[in-house]
Amino acid sequence: MSVALDLPALSPEEAAHSARLGERLREEIERAGGWISFARYMQLALYEPGLGYYSAGARKFGAAGDFITAPEVAPVFSRCLAVQCAEVLQTLGGGDLLEFGAGSGVMAATLLEELERRDALPRRYFILDVSADLRQRQQQTLAAAVPRLLERVEWLDRLPDGLEGVVVANEVLDAQPVERFVRRDAAIHALGVAWERGAPTWSEAPAPEPLARAVLSLERETGVAWPEGYTSEINLGLGNWMAAVSAVLHRGVMLFVDYGLPRREYYTPERSAGTLLCHFRHRFHDDPFARPGLQDITAWVDFTAVAESATAAGLDVAGYTTQAHFLIGAGIGEFVANVADLDVVERVNLSRQAMLLTLPGEMGERFKAMALARGYDAPLRGFASRDLRHTL
Ligand SMILES: C[S@@+](CC[C@H](N)C(=O)[O-])C[C@H]1O[C@@H](n2cnc3c(N)ncnc32)[C@H](O)[C@@H]1O
Repeated sequence: MSVALDLPALSPEEAAHSARLGERLREEIERAGGWISFARYMQLALYEPGLGYYSAGARKFGAAGDFITAPEVAPVFSRCLAVQCAEVLQTLGGGDLLEFGAGSGVMAATLLEELERRDALPRRYFILDVSADLRQRQQQTLAAAVPRLLERVEWLDRLPDGLEGVVVANEVLDAQPVERFVRRDAAIHALGVAWERGAPTWSEAPAPEPLARAVLSLERETGVAWPEGYTSEINLGLGNWMAAVSAVLHRGVMLFVDYGLPRREYYTPERSAGTLLCHFRHRFHDDPFARPGLQDITAWVDFTAVAESATAAGLDVAGYTTQAHFLIGAGIGEFVANVADLDVVERVNLSRQAMLLTLPGEMGERFKAMALARGYDAPLRGFASRDLRHTL
């Protein structure tokens, strides 16, 4: 597969892996008559068992991987999240915790440690991840970091029947398959995927009715006509996913952290090339066809859509704010101030973490936190310092 981007070279094993996924993609595209939707491509590229980026052995997280996430580089992120979880669990008088998409397991380990310190451990800590490959990695991380708490951790293959307590998901919504579309000749076209000259490539087709309807309604809501060639993404699977996930929560709070925007800011005419972003060894680019199976593919989250689907499922939008304000509310300042037990290197490291997580030019404003609640109306400290729900 030829790659025009200036990306690091592949090992022979990596090249062979990507070629195997390429073969799988080619078969699927041919079987479908020469064209598949971009969401289907993303599903295969990220989650095809044994081949997709999240379902096969690539390193993914951390310095030796492709990208960093807040819990990977800044444990104080998970400690603040634990403060918020502890508040909810204590208000409820106990409960369970469910984490979606636990990645390397690092956030689960820090969360459990901090919850233990605060005497607020959940009865059970469930992990549900679409990637079977990552489950093993999560088990290793937790066995090394918190062996005494391992018996509380349970890996699930499907959603539990019901849950009272807290649900958390960091950078999970941005990893869900999205459709891509373009506005052209006064109509909406789907940007799907064809197979040409031995590689997947963009291919425009009339948008199927559900996509066209959803996109035209987005454009109406933003109140401004998009220019010719305007391209963006939409997660058509979000409503069903949120409905299924919301149904699980009988009482308690779901906390989502991800990079994203309210709808009116996401779909402004100025953002005319969408938000698709691929990560390969810490290089960012926008070509989802470079190195299928070896690179992450993400799109920003439309938080208005998350709020709408949660509300439709009977949940309350209990909070929406920037990551920076969430962490400030949850007490990042206290963690940074209480450093009596830390040596100089650890103190410097902690202030670096706090800056990375909260500065507007770093992760502070691009990332947002949202709380969705059922049968829970106590205040949430992470959302007390700045309420941005009116922007949704
Ligand atoms: C970008 S990683 C984030 C990992 C981790 N939460 C972190 O912050 O480091 C995305 C994770 O979400 C998982 N994932 C994606 N879609 C999912 C879904 N629908 N349900 C559960 N896990 C999902 C992936 O397998 C992966 O573990």
